[in-house]
Amino acid sequence: MAKATKAQELTEVSEAQIAVHWKEEEYYQPSEQFKAQANMRDPHILEKFGLDKFPDCFRAYAEMLTWFEPYRTVLDTSDAPFWKWFVGGKINACYNCVDRHLDQYGDKAAFIFVPEPENEPDVAISYRELHSRVNEVAALLRGLGLKAGDRVTLHMPMVPELPITMLACARLGVVHSQVFGGFSGQACGSRIQDSGSRVLITMDSYWRNGTLGDHKANADIAVRTAKELGQDVDKVLVWQRYPGKYSAKTPMVAGRDVFVNELLKNYTGQQVQAVPLPSEGPLFLMYSSGTTGKPKGAQHGIAGYLSYVTATSKWILDIHPEDVYWCMADIGWITGHSYIVYGPLATAATSVLYEGVPTFPDAGRPWRIAERLGVSIFHTAPTAIRMLRKLGPQEPRKYKYRFKSMTTVGEPIEPEAWRWYYSEVGKREAVITDTWWLTETGGFLGTTMPAIHAMKPGSCGPGAPGIHPIIYDETGAEVPKGSGKAGNICIRNPWPGIMQTIWGDRDRYVKTYFAKYNKNPRSKDWRDWPFMCGDGAVQAADGYFRILGRIDDVINVAGHRLGTKELESACLTVPEVAEAAVVPVQDEVKGRVPEVYIAVKPGVQPSQEVSDRVIKAIEEVIGKIARPKRVYIVPDMPKTRSGKIMRRVLAAISNRRDVGDVTTLANPDVVEQIRTMVQGKDAVTTGEALPEDIAKFGQVE
Ligand code: WTA
Repeated sequence: MAKATKAQELTEVSEAQIAVHWKEEEYYQPSEQFKAQANMRDPHILEKFGLDKFPDCFRAYAEMLTWFEPYRTVLDTSDAPFWKWFVGGKINACYNCVDRHLDQYGDKAAFIFVPEPENEPDVAISYRELHSRVNEVAALLRGLGLKAGDRVTLHMPMVPELPITMLACARLGVVHSQVFGGFSGQACGSRIQDSGSRVLITMDSYWRNGTLGDHKANADIAVRTAKELGQDVDKVLVWQRYPGKYSAKTPMVAGRDVFVNELLKNYTGQQVQAVPLPSEGPLFLMYSSGTTGKPKGAQHGIAGYLSYVTATSKWILDIHPEDVYWCMADIGWITGHSYIVYGPLATAATSVLYEGVPTFPDAGRPWRIAERLGVSIFHTAPTAIRMLRKLGPQEPRKYKYRFKSMTTVGEPIEPEAWRWYYSEVGKREAVITDTWWLTETGGFLGTTMPAIHAMKPGSCGPGAPGIHPIIYDETGAEVPKGSGKAGNICIRNPWPGIMQTIWGDRDRYVKTYFAKYNKNPRSKDWRDWPFMCGDGAVQAADGYFRILGRIDDVINVAGHRLGTKELESACLTVPEVAEAAVVPVQDEVKGRVPEVYIAVKPGVQPSQEVSDRVIKAIEEVIGKIARPKRVYIVPDMPKTRSGKIMRRVLAAISNRRDVGDVTTLANPDVVEQIRTMVQGKDAVTTGEALPEDIAKFGQVE
């Protein structure tokens, strides 16, 4: 019987895999004006980064950096698949982002900080000022005894003090682990524990949607959570949003908590030599969700990562030192690390840092900022594009900014939303790069070269230079381009931006990204180690890739990666809950949102109160960003005869689709009960295929 169930599941997968309906979109060409000024105009660039030139083609990336000592080996594969790039060199990321620009660009703004309250002035920070502030903070960190290799957790909002702290860490070789400011104290605490940080750096409060919230409260929860998990935090460094004034209600803990700006007085004017560090030393950790309940710390190294984000900032974002570049994302995610801080600064850009919500106080806000600051390059996520389009479709017309290029990142973008971005935001002038990549990959994987390739709405394009994607089916056979079939997109070769490992978990690194398609675990040849990205994709006949979304249990909510298992374990912290299943639901603005199904323990009455407690638990364990759209208390979960919860059936119900044949389930009757509960008695479902990520939801264990 178990066998029959298995077979049934497999047929469903392959049907879902081929059910990729998509009409080919028309091409859009970059303007002559854009092409004439672009950093990368060589039409043969992709061939120059062909597999036959690998890995030496990436020397060009290393050359964009300033080295204390040159590297000896481009790629060391001796510990495959733990790749080491540019081995033997000595380098410092902070030096490359700050010091080396002082002569030529010292007085130019490195950052322009835009506070959320519209009556507060912009704050421009020149490279020279950045240099002195970073030095003082580095001196302070050194004064606390921190040194190369130590980890420090940051839980900071979008303020200049965040990149200043990151760069100060990088100057010393201290590994920073910034946790997205919107995550809860508990989420921060478990990341502190995993990274083994003894120092937490935070800020008292910050503006979000018109409110100056108490962020310090999260630090107390984080420290407590870390302690419960076995990690002591000795010091909590608290930046003040308004220096000299404490904007939070939560008291400071004597002996543990210190105001950074007070402590900094001891370090005024101090300089700290940028430490020459080995190329392959770790630069930072970035935690991300995966299939299990435990987030994984993607470890990125200094030289490989920095060279990769520098080169892609130059060639793909097309940043010139004269540009005012604005990536409207949060530094707490990989996009912000790579393309607000490290990449743009390494190319001597002026990078805009906006504190708040894009639609605060109205949907014209981003365009007012762009006009006032003369932003020439704009970078954001589909979720923001959809929201701005919904709330203010005509707003961009009111402002006289002029973008030469724009980027979209983080989720698949619907061609409709793409066309609005192109016509209204870009005023039919700006080129668009749709950049597909992951926390784990450091920088772009799939994108057009903006001055060379035509754009196609909804498709990211071919692989970036030196990135050679391939789509495999479940059996490891290549899915050819133009076949209309979807499969698992992998990258054939290593590249400098790839993560080095999962912090403290080498096995999970190999298992998650390589095990499925590696045939010889002992091989030292990179050709044997295609990197599995975790996304479903199709490749059109023209070679462009269209990304269909995650194939694992990750839900991409408004561009934030959330692990289903993490959400489910949060639900299970509510004592009344016996079982929980979380599924993705299509959402007009956020792309996907989670819906929660729970079964309560015997004797517990289903009630609004229980639902509310589930929501509260999710907000406490993960953060408000993970708040589910709805919570359904069901009599039982639909299960296979082997007892596995059929999340896919629940996903079909939540997305108003036909549930298909459920007769092989252990409890088929419950499906109809749940369906009626969710969709109503006379609900009309559509036979339309589910999007690939939802269709395959719950397949990967
Ligand atoms: C999705 C964000 C379609 C994808 C940089 C990936 C995209 C996940 C795109 C990684 C894009 C990112 N088109 N999907 N241009 N960019 N994704 O780790 O599913 O937060 O696996 O990194 O976002 O999310 P992460």
